[in-house]
Parts: sequence; C-alpha cells; structure tokens
Amino acid sequence: MQIAIDGPASAGKSTIAKILANDLDYVYVDTGAMYRAVTLAALKAEIDPNDEQAVDDLLPQVEIDFKPGTPAQLVFLNGQEVTEAIRSDEVARNVSAVASYAAVRTAMTDLQRKIADNNGVVMDGRDIGTTVLPQAEVKIFLIASVKERAERRYKENQAKGIDTTTTLAELTEAIEHRDYLDSHREISPLKKADDAVELDTTGLSIDEVVERAKSIIAERA
Ligand code: CDP
Ligand code: CDP
Repeated sequence: MQIAIDGPASAGKSTIAKILANDLDYVYVDTGAMYRAVTLAALKAEIDPNDEQAVDDLLPQVEIDFKPGTPAQLVFLNGQEVTEAIRSDEVARNVSAVASYAAVRTAMTDLQRKIADNNGVVMDGRDIGTTVLPQAEVKIFLIASVKERAERRYKENQAKGIDTTTTLAELTEAIEHRDYLDSHREISPLKKADDAVELDTTGLSIDEVVERAKSIIAERA
C-alpha cells in the first residue's frame, strides 16, 4: 500500500508519517528533506539558489541517501550527514525557489517513485497525492492554522537548538511566505488531491491525529 501525506509547512506531516510507517512496518520517505538537501548543496557550492541554470548544472553531483537513525532518520548529502543542517533558516528561506525548478522536481520525483516501487511507503511532501503517487491508496491532506503551525515549529526549534534567535513573528512570516510560494508555483504546486481526505489538526495532539489517520487508512484500505 502507498500512503501519501501532503500539506503546508509544520502541519505535522513528518511526525505523523513516521509513526504510521513505524506501526505498519513501511518505509518512511521525507521528500521535503530531498529538496532541502539540494538547496543545501547549492549553498555549500556557493551557487545562488535563484539561479535555476546553476542549480540544474549542480544536480548530477547531488547524491541523497537516508539511513535509519534514532530518534530520526539520518539524511546524507554526498556521503556527509546533513540531518540537522538541512533544517536551518537559510535552507528554509531558499528551498521553495529550488523546489520550483523543473529539473529538480523531475530528479526528486524519479527518486521518490523508485523507492515506492520496491516498498510499502508512507511518503510526505507537497505533491505526493497529486503528482508523485497519484495511485496511492490513501491520501491525507494535513492542515492547521498558521498560528499553531508557527508555534509548533518555534517550540521544536527551541528544543533542538536550531535558529533559536528567530522570533515567533519572523517564523510565522517565513512559513506563510513559503506556503505562498509552494502553492503558487507552476509545477506540482501544494494542493489537496481531489481524492485526498483533509484533516485539520489545529488543537489536536499527535496521538489524536495518528488515531484519525489510522481510521482513514482503515476506511481506504
Ligand atoms: O517540514 P516542512 O513542512 O517545513 O518542509 P519540508 O516538508 O521539509 O519541505 C521543504 C520544502 O520543500 C517545501 O517548502 C517545498 O518548497 C519543498 N517540497 C516540495 O516542493 N515538494 C515536496 N514533495 C516536498 C517538499
Ligand atoms: O512535517 P511537517 O513540517 O508538516 O511538520 P512536523 O515537522 O511533523 O511537525 C512540526 C512540529 O509540530 C513537531 O515538533 C511536532 O511534534 C509538532 N506537532 C505535531 O506534529 N502534531 C500535533 N498535533 C501537534 C504538534
């Protein structure tokens, strides 16, 4: 079975997807981490993320791998562990531009489908239900108020020690801006698939969201 989980930034996609994958013994695929890794590769190579041609030219030199780890899956870029580095403000500010490029999307979509061909997957992102796995048996579109999403990400950053000087107001603005770019790009924008079930997680605990997701899976399976 293929389970697609899409939605805007910090809606809880990866948290819920990881728990579901673990319970079902499926492979969890964090597609956002892939776009973040390409963005980090550009920044490391001192390429302007807004320079589409330069990012396209870099793509053949970008190798992304996932390895099991605790508490989270580890992300590798060209053999180097970048699990935390891809979560920085700098990457977040530039990732939507990089993710809008046709060559980048084709390369990442191919990689994502290859993983899904060989495994039962829970895949989270923006275009999984619409583009990457349109045949997925289960599609969930997770949303929450922007206020709650910003608060969640703020708490998470403080706990992990990532960009701790970024204020809640700045984070709210950055999330809104990224959602705008992701929803308005030309190729595979963030959009609920017609056959996806929308789940509003505002005010819900992680356990409550998991419970609702499991009943959606049970209904669709
Ligand atoms: O975790 P968070 O919601 O902040 O973002 P993410 O899932 O790590 O995704 C980072 C960025 O990658 C998004 O803002 C999109 O620009 C891009 N992305 C995409 O275009 N398509 C996907 N399937 C997943 C992510
Ligand atoms: O993957 P996405 O960007 O959609 O969100 P996430 O990274 O899974 O979740 C962002 C933060 O919200 C994490 O720190 C979660 O623990 C927290 N959270 C949640 O995911 N779901 C709730 N119902 C409440 C909080």
